[in-house]
Amino acid sequence: MGNNQYKWWNHSIIYEIYTKNFVDSNGDKIGDIKGIISKLDYLVELGVDALWLCPIFLSPFIDGGYDISDYYEINPEFGTMVDFESLVEKAHQKNIKIILDMVINHTSDQHPWFLSACQSKISPYRDYYIFRQAKNNELPNNWISSRTLESVWTLNFKTDDYYLHIYTKYQPDLNWENEKLREEIYKMLKFWLEKGIDGFRFDVINKIAKADGLPDLPNGIEHFYADYLFENQNKVHQYINEIRGKVFKDYPDALFMGQTSGINRKQAFEYAHQSRNELDLYLQFDHVDIDKGFEGRRKSWTVSNLKKLIFKWQRLAQEGVWPVIFFGSHDLKRMVNCYGNTSAEYHIKSAKMLAALQLCLRGTQIIYMGDELALKNRIYKSIDEFKDTRSHSIYNKRIKNGENEKEIIDDLQFIARDNARYSIPWKIADEMEGDLTSILAFYQKLITFRKSEPVLLYGDCLSIYNDIEGLFAYERRLENKTITVLANMTDDIIELDMSNMGTLTDNSNYDIRSEFCLRAYEVRIYTIDN
Ligand code: NOJ
Ligand code: CA
Repeated sequence: MGNNQYKWWNHSIIYEIYTKNFVDSNGDKIGDIKGIISKLDYLVELGVDALWLCPIFLSPFIDGGYDISDYYEINPEFGTMVDFESLVEKAHQKNIKIILDMVINHTSDQHPWFLSACQSKISPYRDYYIFRQAKNNELPNNWISSRTLESVWTLNFKTDDYYLHIYTKYQPDLNWENEKLREEIYKMLKFWLEKGIDGFRFDVINKIAKADGLPDLPNGIEHFYADYLFENQNKVHQYINEIRGKVFKDYPDALFMGQTSGINRKQAFEYAHQSRNELDLYLQFDHVDIDKGFEGRRKSWTVSNLKKLIFKWQRLAQEGVWPVIFFGSHDLKRMVNCYGNTSAEYHIKSAKMLAALQLCLRGTQIIYMGDELALKNRIYKSIDEFKDTRSHSIYNKRIKNGENEKEIIDDLQFIARDNARYSIPWKIADEMEGDLTSILAFYQKLITFRKSEPVLLYGDCLSIYNDIEGLFAYERRLENKTITVLANMTDDIIELDMSNMGTLTDNSNYDIRSEFCLRAYEVRIYTIDN
């Protein structure tokens, strides 16, 4: 990729905001758009270039707003359209772009289209969704959702047939085969682009087309979900191309980012190679699912595993498929719990190590709100303390399996999305103000450093010292500049001769250092000008 082919998103730091838990401006304990506006200066100081807002539209909020009941309305708890317009304007004044999360695979079951479709088989919106008759007195097919761990079909009593939902029954899937539906969606996307937003993050874009004829999964396969029958179908590319042609054509600087979980490298090429003109950015989940086992069980992992997964995608950058780097999101546990160490001794040290490890990698960077404060998972005592539907699906399924309740709660404790969905305790940030040793100051400095070094933006990224377990090390190279990042991801000492590594930058997390070993969670960044 020559430098002139880069767009704003290639070198951006995107900050993901789950509005409900970000900043509350009016005392109702619900984060809102005015709250986001009040933090713009904080975000500028952090060095953020764009905000990705999780869905802010009208929604019953059964799935955190990923169940939209009106695409043209702002959720009143978050504010008004005027507030939103003011956010776009004020953010732009400060050179911050606004990216909206858009859910077009499904709507809420409270969307007027679906309400009408459920009323009668001759509703004009009937074919906006996927209804099927029972087959031999059974469900239309045997698909199980990996989200709910149950069938993807729910009976609609009124018309005595079933509708498809790959997520909860409150999120009926839209029928992308229907051209009228597609046109409605395109019109709506343009409405938001006309408001001056800078792009979209499309929720589960790789799932909008389902396998032709909705065939059964082969029999006798246990522990197996139907996802591959509604992911990455050929027709997805046709739809993406259509969105490109009919929506983005008039907005060449708008970002078209798509969530594409469960893809392989070949599919990443198809979705996001620069020559294909489909997605500008794709989000893959290999490394963040590293501890995720079947039915929400935790899986153990090693640093070399993690490294392999990350470099599998880093290498694609060389071939024209630009990576996106993120370790936290509204769908995940807190990153410091997963990859770091939350003990009093290492909490901040390991969070700094992770920040450096992340922000020197190649690709568009996404920081999930609060990770710059090293926020941790919460402690849960019982299932009633979890709000997220996914946590409850896992709990119910495993209780049904006859599993031990404590073990289920222990797993949820770590993997639940609830961990990323509690109000940010801003007093932590206030306490860090002026403290140059704080995690917040570390992020600020690191982001400034990243932006000042073209090698970190455009240079190759090479994995080094692969034989030292526990060490996550890599090199960035561009012309005659090399930057080396060495991160000890363990609480043990790692011996390594660093006497010839180059000039040590001041983005490190220990004051006293040895040239021959890295202490627990120590990170260093060296630069060499050849
Ligand atoms: C992916 C989103 O990131 C997640 O939060 C949501 O539950 C599902 N898609 C369904 O929309
Ligand atoms: Ca509020």
